[in-house]
Amino acid sequence: MQEQNNGLALYPGSFDPFTYGHLDILERASRIFDTIVVTVAKNSSKTAAFTPEQRSELIIQCTPHLKNIRVEIFDGLLVDFAKSQGAVALVRGLRQVSDFDYEFRMAFANRRLAPEVETVFLMTSEEHALISASIVREIHRHGGDITSFVPPIVKKALNAK
Ligand code: PNS
Repeated sequence: MQEQNNGLALYPGSFDPFTYGHLDILERASRIFDTIVVTVAKNSSKTAAFTPEQRSELIIQCTPHLKNIRVEIFDGLLVDFAKSQGAVALVRGLRQVSDFDYEFRMAFANRRLAPEVETVFLMTSEEHALISASIVREIHRHGGDITSFVPPIVKKALNAK
């Protein structure tokens, strides 16, 4: 493989649960940056399916083919964690126009807090453009089939709950 020199990027999110959409963005990011730190936010919502530790473990199990990634749990401000890791960029996936508003506000806030850390948006593949973790949780809660939304390991973990 050709040597890269694009530094370390964070791929932050809730990942509750890790979907094919997340995997798609992570695979794209891992081809661009030398190292990706998948950064699992510790936010504990009442509707959470998995603990941060369980989410991290599932991401690790779903990504044995990606050699330049690691997974960390973080609490607090994302840019502080980014600086502590020496990250040059934050990767966020964009699915559709409705993502823009929230993503732009977050990117501008993060830029004001840490201008040296660039936010990089990657477009998901078309087939994953409508997947969101909250929709997956909802479908699963009502007994629907989530096979096309999440890797088999995640499906198994959700079914075991
Ligand atoms: O997968 P999500 O839920 O869209 O991820 C959102 C996340 C975790 C990246 C975002 O909420 C976050 O960065 N939280 C940490 C607090 C922070 O630094 N917020 C950014 C300033 S707006």
